[in-house]
Amino acid sequence: MKFFLDTAMIDEIKAANEWGILDGVTTNPSLVYKSGRPFKDVLLDICKIVDGPISAEVTTLTAPEMVKQGTELAKIHKNIVVKLPTTVEGVKACKQLSEKGIKINSTLIFSASQALVMAKAGASYVSPFIGRLDDVSEDGMVLIDDIRDIFDNYEIKTEILAASIRHPMHVVECAKAGADIATMPYSVFQQLIKHPLTDVGLKKFMEDWEKAKH
Ligand code: G3P
Repeated sequence: MKFFLDTAMIDEIKAANEWGILDGVTTNPSLVYKSGRPFKDVLLDICKIVDGPISAEVTTLTAPEMVKQGTELAKIHKNIVVKLPTTVEGVKACKQLSEKGIKINSTLIFSASQALVMAKAGASYVSPFIGRLDDVSEDGMVLIDDIRDIFDNYEIKTEILAASIRHPMHVVECAKAGADIATMPYSVFQQLIKHPLTDVGLKKFMEDWEKAKH
């Protein structure tokens, strides 16, 4: 399973990248706004740090505008993946941009039918938002299971990029369900490796080692 960071904060990306296991980064307009920096500067900085797919979202709503903006975003760096909304206009833009060889991440996916349509339109990635489904009393993980089944039935190569991840168990459940990628906030990335028994056990080992040396 690939791990992406879902952030536009450069210090978080640098820190996670130092672990040596970061595969890519996703951003969205809200995350860019939170960073307080110009979009293009943020993208260029991320591309310098991480050698993997970097999602940059269009901020336009019609297919011609998305194609124009997506084409410009893709010119920024070879690793840029253009993030398109899952709408009728997004389908049209996805078809046109993917035919030009531009990689597409279809965002704001809340149903299996949306994932299937965007895959048919040539998306390289579909992003089901599992946390936001859980927030409205639906089981986000069922969506991951359904998309996995459908893509396996038809040998669809589009990768399932589980998004809107809120805690480490989301990552574990996504891995069990066969999601290709989990994109997560830096806080969740850090939580993946933490366990209180590891800390307690290590403390005891170090204390005993100190005693053994004397
Ligand atoms: O970047 C898309 C997605 O991961 C956003 O997550 O927490 O705003 O629902 P969240």
